[in-house]
Amino acid sequence: MQSQRLSILVKDLRSTTFAKEALRRQNSILRFIPKRNFIQTTTRFGIFHKGTPPPQKIVNKIKTKEEIAKEIFEKQLNSPNRFIRWGAIARSEKFTKGMTKYLIIAYVVFLVYGISIMKKQYLKEKELEKLEEKLETGGINEYETLRIKELKGKLRTRDELKLQEYERMKNEEKIDNFDGITLPNNDQNKLNKDIVPPRDTTSFYDSKAEQYDKDINFEEKAIRMGSKRKWLMRHCKGDVLEVSCGTGRNIPYLNIENINSITFLDSSKAMIDITNKKFRQKFPAFDKVAFVQGRAENLTNLASDKERVKYDTIVEAFGLCSHEDPVRALKNFSSLLKPHGRLVLLEHGRGRYSIINKILDKRSVKRLETWGCRWNLDIGEILDDSGLEIVEEKRVHWGTTWCIVAKQKGDIKKQDEVGFFEKYIGSSIKEKYENSKEG
Ligand SMILES: C[S@@+](CC[C@H](N)C(=O)[O-])C[C@H]1O[C@@H](n2cnc3c(N)ncnc32)[C@H](O)[C@@H]1O
Repeated sequence: MQSQRLSILVKDLRSTTFAKEALRRQNSILRFIPKRNFIQTTTRFGIFHKGTPPPQKIVNKIKTKEEIAKEIFEKQLNSPNRFIRWGAIARSEKFTKGMTKYLIIAYVVFLVYGISIMKKQYLKEKELEKLEEKLETGGINEYETLRIKELKGKLRTRDELKLQEYERMKNEEKIDNFDGITLPNNDQNKLNKDIVPPRDTTSFYDSKAEQYDKDINFEEKAIRMGSKRKWLMRHCKGDVLEVSCGTGRNIPYLNIENINSITFLDSSKAMIDITNKKFRQKFPAFDKVAFVQGRAENLTNLASDKERVKYDTIVEAFGLCSHEDPVRALKNFSSLLKPHGRLVLLEHGRGRYSIINKILDKRSVKRLETWGCRWNLDIGEILDDSGLEIVEEKRVHWGTTWCIVAKQKGDIKKQDEVGFFEKYIGSSIKEKYENSKEG
């Protein structure tokens, strides 16, 4: 390195210490020249003095690490690059102190909010427990039944309308005991004039069969229906019945290893023939398969109660919308389930938003003509009327696609079907869950 001339003006003893340190860092030796009353040292950078420095010397102070860091930091604070500036602000003392304050406030708010949610949940659970006890012992009124549904988050439109009326009666007529009172049902599927009347769609699908896959492919890809079909078929295990199998659009998602036997049912012969072809192609070695032409509404008429084959899983995709009597069909499925068996549905119907429902209503006739289905039905109402118990209810595509897992009334939930709150907070349900583990 080239030698450089450098001097430090040493005014007092502290500066002397500084000069010494600077020299030590440069591996230089401090030399005292007592007679001239100043310290002069020579380094490869120059001469250091204590006392009156020679007038011609350049005075240049060496910066400490801290000073250099501070300078860089200040430059960053004023940087035109916003990311560098924000980074510097985030490291500033003012910001750090402020953040600590905000973090403490956020923590307190989170804590208070959390406690209030837990408290509300606890009170809900207590009320639910009381109402369910009353339900078991009998003597529960309609308002209380609706309240159970509300507490479980399973109110349908018609239930909301009824509850509104009960609330009005409470507030305006000061009634607080609703024993013996029942209100009109407000069935949306019956009252809505835009829902076309139910019909047997067999002949429609017989004529549609050849074109069906080609016509529906684009629509299904656009809304990524494949992932929903995958969800549906993931549930298939043991002895399986697929109702309204159509052209076998769920076959690609079937995991044959989980299955003991599978029966495909459809009212249209032309549709089920396509399923047959697809299945044989994909699983040529699997022989525990049956293809049955028949109507879901007649399923239980086919055999007496004792002779009836029962299933571990019954699945149906987009079938309820084209059945003549969807409630009857669901009741049949329920009676064909083995203990712990599950009915899994992928259906379309009314959505969560009125703007969407208006579109469905407006185009309901066109839809029926093109696809043979009633796409504006309230699926929740149909499920509630069937007497099945819903284990899982998910809705996508603005609530118009319904993903449902249901079980027979009274059947115990499986471990993986019990949610966090039910498992750890709801005492009555927790008890049921414990029982299910034993069972
Ligand atoms: C909209 S398609 C759905 C087909 C298929 N599940 C799918 O996801 O593409 C409705 C199907 O239900 C069948 N279907 C209609 N009413 C039926 C009934 N009452 N019983 C059994 N199948 C029925 C039709 O023949 C048709 O194949």
